[in-house]
Amino acid sequence: MTASPEPGRLLNPLDPAFAAHPYPAYAVAREAAAAFRQPGDHLTYLTRYADVHAAFRDRRLGSTFLHRYTAEELGLDPGIPVWRDPRWTDFQAFERWELLNLEPPIHTRLRRLVLEAFTPRAVDALRGGIEARAAELLAPGRERGSIDLVDYGQAFSLGIICDLIGVAPGDRDTIKRLSDDTVSMYEPGVSEAQQAVANRATGDFRRYLLDVVRHRRAHPGADLTTALITATIDGVRLDDDQVVSTAMVLLMAGHEATVNATANGVAALAAHPEAWRRIREGAVTARQAIEEILRWDPPLQWFERWVLEEGVQLGGAPVAKGSRVALVIGAANRDPRRFPDPDRFDVARDDTGHITFGGGIHFCIGAPLARMELEVTLGELAGSEDALEIVSTPVRRPTFQFRGFQRLEVALHGRRA
Ligand code: HEM
Repeated sequence: MTASPEPGRLLNPLDPAFAAHPYPAYAVAREAAAAFRQPGDHLTYLTRYADVHAAFRDRRLGSTFLHRYTAEELGLDPGIPVWRDPRWTDFQAFERWELLNLEPPIHTRLRRLVLEAFTPRAVDALRGGIEARAAELLAPGRERGSIDLVDYGQAFSLGIICDLIGVAPGDRDTIKRLSDDTVSMYEPGVSEAQQAVANRATGDFRRYLLDVVRHRRAHPGADLTTALITATIDGVRLDDDQVVSTAMVLLMAGHEATVNATANGVAALAAHPEAWRRIREGAVTARQAIEEILRWDPPLQWFERWVLEEGVQLGGAPVAKGSRVALVIGAANRDPRRFPDPDRFDVARDDTGHITFGGGIHFCIGAPLARMELEVTLGELAGSEDALEIVSTPVRRPTFQFRGFQRLEVALHGRRA
């Protein structure tokens, strides 16, 4: 492919071929221009590492604008973005207190409360339980001779975050369904019908968690919901809507990306037997390898920001106040200006500088937990599998922003004697 004068045309999230394998198109677009737009779209794309890294930290950009302007003040097209559609009242009620959608000072205070539960030390205390859970969930596959890593990952990551929040084990399937339907609102090009489904699911999700909150008020437990109910910000207790939105974003963010990262990682390792051999032999630790997995094929490909001020230049190009910017993590992680030989999957790269967990004030709260989950799963597999072998054709998810697999069946030969 040669460099295109319109690099934006190369990045079409609705094109299944692009979504299946976006990296070659990113490479061409990234070299063609530092900042570019899709014809007819108001989104400016940033694909170079330095620009994406800076944009995550740029306070002239916001994940919301509502702390400073109304939509009218910003001169927004009323149809954009879809989730601000006034018909989707349940979705808006959720987003009103969703961490990713808040800005300081309330964001700082709410985030601080949640962070306490996810510090590396707090997560380290969970390690024994997480290892036991991985072994238990892999056991039936070891009996059978193979396992779908997506099924495994869902049971694993969803179980962990549900237990932390205080969701009853019998309700995990309900949470999974509600979460899948809710996050579909964020996919590019989501249809009107799907938006209605997402809004309904958000309402059901909120009502479910309101019940959990009421129950925990009467019967406190050792879970995060109880901690949020009893916590105060400047001497004031969180209200139900704040607790519910916080629990909801944790339940969704707390499994979706980790499941996809697990499957993306195992697929990458299966395609690179030499890398797997080095992990098996202990030349590279699982902890090192997961950083390369996260860099090479991130489960969340991009995030967006609003431009909140006049006169902003990004990647050398002016971007209008009220427009949006796409921070393309998947492209930034493969920028040769930052990572030598970036398309090479090198588990010994030993570089944690990828942008897979974002940056700045919204940097992923769950990064220590996600890292531990990935490390534990890889460690379990490395303890028993001489080779990672995919036994049936892997099926990629059709979604682009959430990059993962629908199904990834891997042979399990069992622990060696
Ligand atoms: C491999 C797995 C994961 C990846 C790649 C990932 C990625 C990210 C990214 C890129 C952001 C920043 C988004 C932005 O700036 O707009 C983010 C934020 C967030 N993540 Fe994760 N995440 C993962 C796992 C988790 C887990 C396990 C949890 C919860 C236990 C979690 C909870 C959150 C929360 C609450 C935020 C919002 C933080 C804030 O706004 O202050 N994530 N994540």
